[in-house]
Amino acid sequence: MAEQSRDELLKKLMAEVDPKNIPAHIAIIMDGNGRWAKKKGQPRVFGHHEGARRVKNIVRFCNDIGVKHLSLYAFSIENWLRPSLEVSTLMRLFSTYIIKERDGLDAENVRFEFCGRRESMPPKVMEELDRIVASLKHNTGLVLTVCINYGGRAEIVDAVKSIISKGYKPEDITEELISQNLYCADILPDVDLMIRTSGEMRTSNFHIWRGAYSELYFTPALWPEFDSVEMVKAILAYQNRERRFGMTSEQVQE
Ligand code: FPP
Repeated sequence: MAEQSRDELLKKLMAEVDPKNIPAHIAIIMDGNGRWAKKKGQPRVFGHHEGARRVKNIVRFCNDIGVKHLSLYAFSIENWLRPSLEVSTLMRLFSTYIIKERDGLDAENVRFEFCGRRESMPPKVMEELDRIVASLKHNTGLVLTVCINYGGRAEIVDAVKSIISKGYKPEDITEELISQNLYCADILPDVDLMIRTSGEMRTSNFHIWRGAYSELYFTPALWPEFDSVEMVKAILAYQNRERRFGMTSEQVQE
């Protein structure tokens, strides 16, 4: 679709958005980089580079419309099994991307967080990420959380280990206590809307605790094709759902 009509479509869809019902925490499984690259006759890493470019637009757009938290599934614990060239390219891409975008994020008042298992991360990459996290701590706009070396089950295992190490007894264990011991516990709330691109309909171990009540949205668009129009479509789908949290429709509408 031509650029002009894509802009017009965005305007038209934005007019339908209820600004009072923007999901506070959107989590995205950015899938389809490899397939996008293959369609273009390019190596998989080409797709990851294009995927990284997409991140910038989506962060800006979400910040502009008042989303508070955006978490991106950039690298799962299982992704270490990928070919070593792809793994090393991705790790390099994470730190170079964040370093390159740091000033832009700061200018847009965006905060940055890392969410995942720190051990087994390349120390240099972790060092760079920590540095950027610290340097953007003062910002009060959207919190961009990049989930790297992340697994939802691993996060729960680590939460349980942390609880045991603090000396809690079985009778002390509550859902609240587990929530308080997840990664980024004091920053990241439950997920309202979870999006997966590329037509796959799984949540693949992403935010399994925080996502217990999230609305799921699947789109055939590959991640490098996911633009503001696609994001607004996801938000409109979310706004058309009724979130009941186990209650009846009548109770929710009271
Ligand atoms: C899944 O697509 C994507 C990934 C494993 C990597 C996601 C990384 C990026 C978008 C790059 C940069 C991100 C940041 C935050 C700077 P896939 O490779 O599994 O696609 P396929 O299923 O088509 O093979």
